[in-house]
Amino acid sequence: MATRKIVVLGNDTLRKKSKPVLAFDESLVVLLDDMKTTMIERKGVGIAAVQVGVLRRAIIIELEEGEYLEIINPQILKTKGKVSDAEGCLSVPGFYCDVPRPRYVKIRAFDRNGNEFEFEAEDYLARCVCHEMDHLDGVLFVDLTEEGRKYKKENGVI
Ligand code: NI
Repeated sequence: MATRKIVVLGNDTLRKKSKPVLAFDESLVVLLDDMKTTMIERKGVGIAAVQVGVLRRAIIIELEEGEYLEIINPQILKTKGKVSDAEGCLSVPGFYCDVPRPRYVKIRAFDRNGNEFEFEAEDYLARCVCHEMDHLDGVLFVDLTEEGRKYKKENGVI
């Protein structure tokens, strides 16, 4: 497992749409393990492959200390409610703001072995899932609020 470089705001790669994972092979295992190592080292709670420069629809989220959820090619099946709370991002170091997100999401995705599964998430975990899924479509949390857009403008990045 290796640590990879985090792509930060201002780099065009973050704005690209990631492609589905087609092969559940050794290169995916290496990618996921590297993403996890990188996230832990940087003290993140979630990471999308695009954040290490790989445009594939793969996400890891920390559930609790030492327990991780791997989400490949996720689809949102259902959302409920809306709540605003603080967010940050490894790709936007040092900036945090409140972002509205669904309070509940139901997702269908694949694990690293290519097995399909569904899961439900609420509150903090629902927020993490939505934040990471936005990364797969080139969307960052700073796009979603006035405060975030102001931050981008002040820093001259899009
Ligand atoms: Ni992020």
